Amino acid sequence: MSEHFDVHGGARLVGEVEVVGAKNSVLKLMAAALLAEGTTTITNCPQILDVPLMADVLRSVGCEVELDGDTAYITTPTELSHRADSPAMGKLRASVCVLGPLVGRLKKAVVALPGGDAIGSRPLDMHQNGLRKLGATSTIAHGCVVAEADGLHGAQIWLDFPSVGATENILMAAVLAEGTTVIDNAAREPEIVDICTMLTEMGAKIEGAGTSTLIVEGVDQLHPTEHRVIGDRIVGATWAFAAAMTRGDVTVTGVDPHHLELVLEKLRLAGAEVTTFDGKGFRVMQPDRPRSVDFVTLPYPGFATDLQPFAVALSSVSEGTSMITENVYEARFRFIEEMVRLGADARTDGHHAVVRGVEKLSSAPVWASDIRAGAGLVLAGLCADGVTEVWDVFHIDRGYPHFVENLNRLGARIDRVSSAGDAD
Ligand code: EPZ
Repeated sequence: MSEHFDVHGGARLVGEVEVVGAKNSVLKLMAAALLAEGTTTITNCPQILDVPLMADVLRSVGCEVELDGDTAYITTPTELSHRADSPAMGKLRASVCVLGPLVGRLKKAVVALPGGDAIGSRPLDMHQNGLRKLGATSTIAHGCVVAEADGLHGAQIWLDFPSVGATENILMAAVLAEGTTVIDNAAREPEIVDICTMLTEMGAKIEGAGTSTLIVEGVDQLHPTEHRVIGDRIVGATWAFAAAMTRGDVTVTGVDPHHLELVLEKLRLAGAEVTTFDGKGFRVMQPDRPRSVDFVTLPYPGFATDLQPFAVALSSVSEGTSMITENVYEARFRFIEEMVRLGADARTDGHHAVVRGVEKLSSAPVWASDIRAGAGLVLAGLCADGVTEVWDVFHIDRGYPHFVENLNRLGARIDRVSSAGDAD
């Protein structure tokens, strides 16, 4: 049985939408629960496919996990397995974040190489180099990262690039290492701050969260905590782009607008009227056709690569020409091929794309290649004439809770259609 969305073009989105916890935070917080024996409680969890998958990953190493609405209860036993190689591992990227906690607690780990979105090469060299600096050996054998240490000690670690996953894995190993670890050129994403907050609540000693230098003073053990996941800035931004593209008026709650300052500034430049509500949310109103704006993706606080498909989609219906530069994942422009099916006037050259806005897109069947590309195609479908079929929507379900329901509540008309047989 496969599913697709029928997206009816021509909607103007109006109303209020609430954002819940961030996918790219909750999955790492779930992994952090491995660091403390006992029951850790995580609230504001999004109801997306990746959360039960991550629960399966944790169960495979011996945890009990109960998911009850927006709350996850994770009970970590004294005796954990160091082998995380269940089939769930290959279904999401965040599964690799059990590596740091397992090495931290057990001083050894065999962790299957992760899956996740096909958006370009996603090596683990920085994760491995960081663990080596902390005193572990790390190799790749039979599809797994194999790491082992007699003991972990603090170290000075420089990352070649502020990788989110490498920062998280090194951090989660370093909190239980002996002595002081300094991670330089660390990622600064709000999700990194969230995990640092939770680890600190668990008894870790971390300074510099949200800056490029994290200083970790190792402790002997951590204890469980209850922690609320931060709002999903990428989902919040998705609704902001949806408002701008449909010339709508959407109020977004549950997300901190400080996490989206550059995004909201870009939308202002495109002609949107943006109001922010401190710490709580924002409103985007787009009175006229958007104007073209250039976008450059970079690690936070730069414009997130996860929002690049929305930048392309907005530019495709804006007045004028936009240049979009992708600096993080080389294959993310694959999305543009689908946008061209919808009548977008776009071309790529290396890591740049030039998009000349058209008045209206034209409906067609299109295929989602990852979570954000899928959501971007749905937003584009709202600006096309006729009914756009978006296929492979399981990608969208991995990252967006109640995606269709939320859009329909804002005035869109999107039907989820199940059909027997292969969608391809
Ligand atoms: C996280 O992936 C997010 N995923 C991605 O979101 C997001 O696009 C990305 O960060 C960048 O913001 C999760 O949090 C689960 P990175 P991650 O390590 O941690 C290179 C979505 O749509 N690199 O910051 O895997 C890598 O190739 C997803 O929700 C190395 O070269 O990203 C990339 O070019 C998609 N060696 C860059 O760094 C390494 O050892 C950034 O990757 C690690 C990374």
